[in-house]
Amino acid sequence: MERNEFIKSLGLGVAMVCTGACFSACGKKSDAPEPSKPNGGGVPSGTTASVDLSTQLLTIGASLTVNSILFIRTAAGNTTTSFVATQAVCPHQGGALSFIQPSNYIQCGLHSSRYSTSGSILAQPNDGGTTSALKVYPLTVSGNTLTATA
Ligand code: FES
Repeated sequence: MERNEFIKSLGLGVAMVCTGACFSACGKKSDAPEPSKPNGGGVPSGTTASVDLSTQLLTIGASLTVNSILFIRTAAGNTTTSFVATQAVCPHQGGALSFIQPSNYIQCGLHSSRYSTSGSILAQPNDGGTTSALKVYPLTVSGNTLTATA
């Protein structure tokens, strides 16, 4: 074998190994939270998010995401029991969570897992993986300001 042929065959072999490793990694299905979501999609402890109740969350079923926290109005009045606040990022693989008012559940836009407003799992992801319960954050109301603290 000539030197040039040997180098060419070596390059082709390395390319095949790299391609195989890439396909192998891309094909893996992992239920672990993404590395960029180290807290299972929850926000870091101590994170706060606030909503102005004079202009936001005015009707039952209204929802809003602030600082990766999903606020939902569940009842009339402006007390802490009128709202819930959960993580807005899915613990499965980081999909965005939305409140589906007519069905009264929280749903992931990526694999359609569903959660109750108390954070419990109603349906697992549709990709065969598993998810975990949502973090629910404590609330305070001061004047017209609703605040959740992780
Ligand atoms: S990322 Fe939400 S169900 Fe998969």
